[in-house]
Amino acid sequence: MRQGVEFVGVSKVFGGHVAVNGINFHIPEGSFFSLLGPSGCGKSTTLRMLAGFEDPDQGEIWIGDQRADGVPAYRRPTNMVFQRWALFPHMTVHENVAFGPSVRGARGGELNRQVAEALELVGLGAYGARKPRQLSGGQMQRVALARALVNKPKVLLLDEPLGALDLKLRMQMQIELKRLQESVGATFVYVTHDQSEALTMSDNIAIMSEGSIHQIGSPHEVYDAPKTRFVATFLGNANALPVDVESVAGDTATVSLKGLRFAASVGATPTNGKGDIVLRYEAIRIGAAAAAMDVRTKARIREVVFSGSAIDYVLETEQGIELTAQQPHIADEKPHERGALVDIGWQARAARLFPQK
Ligand SMILES: Nc1ncnc2c1ncn2[C@@H]1O[C@H](COP(=O)(O)OP(=O)(O)OP(=O)(O)O)[C@@H](O)[C@H]1O
Ligand SMILES: [Mg+2]
Repeated sequence: MRQGVEFVGVSKVFGGHVAVNGINFHIPEGSFFSLLGPSGCGKSTTLRMLAGFEDPDQGEIWIGDQRADGVPAYRRPTNMVFQRWALFPHMTVHENVAFGPSVRGARGGELNRQVAEALELVGLGAYGARKPRQLSGGQMQRVALARALVNKPKVLLLDEPLGALDLKLRMQMQIELKRLQESVGATFVYVTHDQSEALTMSDNIAIMSEGSIHQIGSPHEVYDAPKTRFVATFLGNANALPVDVESVAGDTATVSLKGLRFAASVGATPTNGKGDIVLRYEAIRIGAAAAAMDVRTKARIREVVFSGSAIDYVLETEQGIELTAQQPHIADEKPHERGALVDIGWQARAARLFPQK
């Protein structure tokens, strides 16, 4: 028997433009799933097809053991929370949340109980009498959440719901959303182009580009073991170095670049002897720590860029390879200086080989 949410070969075309291109995925019931990708890659279209606001041109959508495509939005066990929360401004918080259940016939004590429970869930138990204009942005977004949760949807759909909030509040809401998802046990499908949001909250992430899903996995899987060059460079900050591939054996390769020969892990095998090594900034060690690394060389520090919690070093190795390394900034540790010649190194498995773009 089917459970959770399933997309089978789903496509959507808008006037000749393929917005979603035959995607397949399964979301286990009661898990937190994110669709992550750059603007225009088809995330909202995917979510809107799940909600019933768009019809797929091809494929099947399943919610639990029910075929969902073709079923009107209001008859699906889904609720959507939008980026712009659109509360009714003339109604109180309580009335905003009560609107959905009252349309479906809830009345009196039962209605009040449902509303109170939903407001309690989002930490706004004491705010029922306020009007939206008397709330902060974060509180309004929580009312919007309560308004969706009060309907007890099996699947809650969230389209960049924190996009309008400032960074601090967004980080706080990320933690609250995850807690909320665990306590209500519903399946959450979350759309974002913000990788830190997806990495923080999700059980699984689907990484999308140009209408296709490149990889689905836990935050650690997609970050540590990207399967495509796109995933490897989209997540985090990474160097992409064009290399000659000398040999590939299983999941390790030997590559060379400007005379530096080194071992790397294989993300996807190039077929023409040319590849790109993707190496994250934070994987490169500088100074004494480099001695314990698999791949070692010397480099000149060309630039030092301070960004608060971290320092980026733009390096040029003695072979003439340009690299950027990132180190955490520790208050009483003196950063390396521009112009200095330093030892650098990285672990072989941190360098991942892909076919060239
Ligand atoms: N109703 C529509 N009519 C025509 N084209 C559309 C329509 N909706 C979306 N598109 C196009 O489909 C593609 C995918 O759009 P979608 O809104 O799914 O992207 P997205 O990943 O949500 O992007 P963003 O992060 O900017 O919200 C885009 O090229 C978009 O212009
Ligand atoms: Mg969108």
